[in-house]
Amino acid sequence: MSDTAFDLLAPHVRSSSGRSLWLADENLLSAHIPANESVVAITNRFDLQQHLQKQGWKAFFSDYDLSIIDDESLDSVIYRISKEKPVVHHLINEAYRCLKPTGKLIIAGDKNEGIKTYFSKAKKMFGSGNCSKADKDTWLAFLEKTDLSTETRLDDKQYHQLRITASDDNYEYQSKPGVFGWDKIDKGSAYLIENLDSFLMTLPEPPKNVLDLGCGYGYLSLNLAPLDIPITATDNNAGALLACQRNFDRYPVNGRVIAADCADGITEGFDLIVCNPPFHAGFSVDGDLTDRFLKAAHNRLNERGIACFVTNLHIPIERKAATLFHQAECIMSNGNFKLVRLSHAV
Ligand SMILES: C[S@@+](CC[C@H](N)C(=O)[O-])C[C@H]1O[C@@H](n2cnc3c(N)ncnc32)[C@H](O)[C@@H]1O
Repeated sequence: MSDTAFDLLAPHVRSSSGRSLWLADENLLSAHIPANESVVAITNRFDLQQHLQKQGWKAFFSDYDLSIIDDESLDSVIYRISKEKPVVHHLINEAYRCLKPTGKLIIAGDKNEGIKTYFSKAKKMFGSGNCSKADKDTWLAFLEKTDLSTETRLDDKQYHQLRITASDDNYEYQSKPGVFGWDKIDKGSAYLIENLDSFLMTLPEPPKNVLDLGCGYGYLSLNLAPLDIPITATDNNAGALLACQRNFDRYPVNGRVIAADCADGITEGFDLIVCNPPFHAGFSVDGDLTDRFLKAAHNRLNERGIACFVTNLHIPIERKAATLFHQAECIMSNGNFKLVRLSHAV
């Protein structure tokens, strides 16, 4: 999937000289850019870091923790803006800190993602810059750090701070900006937990372990803790893994939190799998991602186990799952979401 905004930045990533930083986000998995020795890449997506490392890039996986980069040490920072405002603000603030005087921040994005507003705010901080229209939706902007004494910082909602963002009768959930639905309980996931017993009663015996596929800050895992079986929680997003680990430590939960792309690298089998799959990858609706989550559930599910998926009603999950599982059945729906039970057993 090509992304016009990233296409505008690609030549700069390719040809950058001096010391440069590429903040990699969103739809870049299809991009094949030869490694550039002057450029270090930092991404909060595990799949992207693996992908870039395979292509020879010096690529780091973290929750955009730029503390590994010294103040005023970079000549340029290249960044295709993210979807979430606190993430963008955090990275513009950090770019300002890391850039040398007259260093350049190069950003691109779409009008409806707020690129022009980000540009104006960044220009106030940096001192100078220009922004040009590449097509009817997409803009490319260059900022130059000429104001060296500005006190302005954009509101990043204390980006790195884990804090209680939601609670219910049983738990307080800690999370942070940059994590899927970070400041709320997802309604689909809550629906799955409310009806967990309807799934569990169909198991031939109590489950001995559980996999939370795409765990986010760990809502499903925490609510499975009363089963008192080992929980494996896995996600692709660095912030989600930090938040989930924090929630596991606080209660504590009998489990482990693992960075993985659709459970790749996890070899164990599970009696119970729970999943609220993403259907957005970066800026696009990605049917393939749903397929990959189903495939992961298929590969990791024990012979007599069950996988419990919750999705929006319009996702044809039963049809997609039919080729992988003996049974793929919607057991319940509520007008917005459906609960789908998948099993290998006949
Ligand atoms: C709809 S959210 C569900 C989060 C959490 N389970 C909940 O119920 O609140 C989907 C999760 O899948 C994660 N995700 C997206 N792509 C992934 C991938 N390739 N591998 C693993 N996890 C991924 C996202 O980071 C997000 O946390």
